[in-house]
Amino acid sequence: MSNSNGKLRVAAIGDLHVMEDNVAPYRELFSEIAANADVLVLCGDLTNFGKTSEAEILAEDIRTCPIPVIGVLGNHDYECGQPENVAAILHEAGMTVLDEQAIEIEGVGFAGVKGFMGGYGRGELAPFGEPIAKAFVQEAMDEARKLENQLRTLRTERSVAVLHYSPTVETLEGEPEAIFQYLGTQRLADAIDRFDHVKAVVHGHAHHGKYEGATPRGTPVYNVAQFVLREKFGRPYAVLEV
Ligand SMILES: [Fe+2]
Ligand SMILES: [Fe+2]
Repeated sequence: MSNSNGKLRVAAIGDLHVMEDNVAPYRELFSEIAANADVLVLCGDLTNFGKTSEAEILAEDIRTCPIPVIGVLGNHDYECGQPENVAAILHEAGMTVLDEQAIEIEGVGFAGVKGFMGGYGRGELAPFGEPIAKAFVQEAMDEARKLENQLRTLRTERSVAVLHYSPTVETLEGEPEAIFQYLGTQRLADAIDRFDHVKAVVHGHAHHGKYEGATPRGTPVYNVAQFVLREKFGRPYAVLEV
């Protein structure tokens, strides 16, 4: 249900990093979030190593969450080589794992992909030379294209782009500049900036980055890695009105 001002309250948190010895790690937090928001968005690194045992633990907490839970996987969810199993467990618990298809909740569109690395501006890696270099860049291009395709299907006036990797350097401030190219790719911002309906972008991955930034065209970008939020707000999630 949206707010009296007609806006949807979107709670967002990234980098949950659930481990197999955790006991109901997010149950209480999800219940607190549900009291303050209409939708919960999870921005990847949901598990620490991409183990199904970790996913099962998070799945139990998702089952108890009374508001819709949507989100994307992160690189940590790929570590054991079975991201599809991790996604299936979370999906089974009721979470919408965005990757190929956008969804609409209360008139607000949500499009999401994990994203990938590759750098920004002059630091952007080009698809040139060795096949493995081209394959690396291709991954970033494929993720950006999936995001663009989802955004194109949305007929909503307002939408949110959900990512794990960052579309901009602005929200990486605080991380060593030498690793910026591993924290995201400008190609994601290029996809987002083709659409007027994207009102907010949320991402995680940069644990030591900055909360607020923007794409080159000015779409607001929020780094919702829980460690960034804890430091800024004293709580591990953000609530955006969209
Ligand atoms: Fe992370
Ligand atoms: Fe990550």
